[in-house]
Amino acid sequence: MSGEVYLVTRNEGKLKEAKDILAPFSISVKSIYEICDIGKVEEKGENYAHNALLKARAGFINTGKISLGEDSGLEVDYLRGAPGLYSARFGGENVSSGDKISLLLKSLQGVPQEERTARFVCVVALVWEGGEEIFRGVCEGYIAEEPRGNTGFGYDPIFIFPPEVKTFAELGSEFKNRYSHRSRAFRQCAEFLIGEVFH
Ligand code: IMP
Repeated sequence: MSGEVYLVTRNEGKLKEAKDILAPFSISVKSIYEICDIGKVEEKGENYAHNALLKARAGFINTGKISLGEDSGLEVDYLRGAPGLYSARFGGENVSSGDKISLLLKSLQGVPQEERTARFVCVVALVWEGGEEIFRGVCEGYIAEEPRGNTGFGYDPIFIFPPEVKTFAELGSEFKNRYSHRSRAFRQCAEFLIGEVFH
């Protein structure tokens, strides 16, 4: 391994994807909570970058380790960008992914395909002794009429990746990790780590 980084998340889906995306760069990813209980970092920021930075800074301040924070969301054009920053809390705290999906599909009932356009956005913040950096990845698609597929997490069963006309949950993790918002942001981060941080 060329280096080790700590992701400030308790979301197993995000952690697994980050590990798989960074493995080909010989970068090992662990959850910061494996080495230190830094508590829950409140997402008080007014954009993805701010929230990602709050998480990465909390990781670095508490451990001194190279820390990554990640904030992501699903922006649906018909809903003027909602749920966006509030994707994890859409419908309320502690609402299951299945219920969030049902709620989103209900708010798009009868809306034709061409107006169901959406994008996943992911911002990764890196904080280390040398400073702070931000990386952003976007993946364009549209919202399905009903959930399809059973891999991934969150809104994957209703996000259609247009080149394949299949949902991320149908396409599987290897495919998703090649084209997703998270893959685009984390790969930029990996290149920066290798070029500027690991010596
Ligand atoms: P947060 O970054 O912790 O605020 O959570 C972002 C939320 O957006 C997740 O809990 C999911 O509901 C959703 N989300 C972000 N990325 C993905 C993805 O790759 N697939 C499915 N849902 C996602």
